[in-house]
Amino acid sequence: MPGFELWSDAERKEVNEVLETGILMRYGFDAPRKGKWKSKELEEAICKRFGSKYAQLASSGTSALTTVMAALGIGAGDEVIMPSFTFVASFEAVLSMGTIPVLVDVDETLTLNPDAVRNAITSKTKCVMPVHMCGSMADLDALVAICKQHNLILLEDACQSIGASYKGKHVGTIGNAGTFSFDFVKTITCGEGGAVLTNDEGVYTKCDGYSDHGHDHKGADRGADLHPFIGYNFRISELHAAVGLAQIKRLDQFLEIQKRNHSQLKSFLSQVPEVSFRKIPDPAGDSCTFLSWFLTTEELTRAVVNEMKAQNILAGNFYWYDNNWHYVRKWDHLKNASSLYALNDVQQAALKKLSSQNFPASDAIMSRCISSSISLLWTEEQIREKGEKMVNAIKKVLSKQSVAAH
Ligand SMILES: Cc1ncc(COP(=O)(O)O)c(C=O)c1O
Repeated sequence: MPGFELWSDAERKEVNEVLETGILMRYGFDAPRKGKWKSKELEEAICKRFGSKYAQLASSGTSALTTVMAALGIGAGDEVIMPSFTFVASFEAVLSMGTIPVLVDVDETLTLNPDAVRNAITSKTKCVMPVHMCGSMADLDALVAICKQHNLILLEDACQSIGASYKGKHVGTIGNAGTFSFDFVKTITCGEGGAVLTNDEGVYTKCDGYSDHGHDHKGADRGADLHPFIGYNFRISELHAAVGLAQIKRLDQFLEIQKRNHSQLKSFLSQVPEVSFRKIPDPAGDSCTFLSWFLTTEELTRAVVNEMKAQNILAGNFYWYDNNWHYVRKWDHLKNASSLYALNDVQQAALKKLSSQNFPASDAIMSRCISSSISLLWTEEQIREKGEKMVNAIKKVLSKQSVAAH
């Protein structure tokens, strides 16, 4: 999955160019930087590669989400509909705006169930945030239609799905805006970093200012910048952007390897009739960072996870249902509103409600799901060995269960 697996001279070269100028900041210092503008170059490369009119880099995927929510005018009292399966960063960004995360069920796409979204819309709903989890994508046609019908903002959290596409367009470019993460474990990495993608010039201009203290970036003299609105520092550094610039040039190579390894591993698991696979709204657009698969019951899935653990082959395979980071079941800190500072009253009330809410439809899916991360470093022989061991572990559990049943 992550670009760091194929670290190379290309990243070193880009970073060294920045170190040679000594200008580690993305703005200003025009003369000593000697024409090196790595952040700007990376933004241009993002626009070109993903077909977005504008891109604004940020210090992380989380700060990219925060920045774009501000630019889209999502704030206190607004509700953002988001999935029960995501990384905690998605709701962190929402809470940081004074906004209310409204969690709804996922379906077998492992992200927003469009019917659950429809049922959650209230007069306070401002935005729908699909999270394109584990390299694949949401049912975007359905979500675009819902947002159009109800006049809502569609904000794609595409942090985990760089390079995935839906019906010919890259995820992150289909809604009003989208975000990528370039943290260390993403498809391409900057070490830390993120980006907002949008086709809306107004949204872009606001992101540009907001992520740099609200500076208007209008004149040549940075010290004379005005502040049309309050902003914060969510800037990326030139060192991080330099790494990303080398990585984005290698993205197609990473995706090709990922897709090949994914398809080989899938061919092993497909041999087991009790295994089914995640629903992918546009299979050709899967970036293939993970192979996500289902077994028929929670009991069987837990037994297979335990068997894989006993055989020491569980590493790289994720049972999200028991995972602290990614599924609502274990987000006690969110449900208990364990904040270091006072959340606003409306947020506190919403989290209190969440603490007594159940997600049986999501549970029925997530309790049967295992996601196998796809490494760029595997050899064909290693995939064969891995696939055979996984299939044998599943078959062993199935035969034990069938003996027990008779
Ligand atoms: C779905 C999702 N959204 C947002 C983020 C936040 O990205 P970052 O770690 O760059 O802040 C992540 C990171 O893992 C993620 O998986």
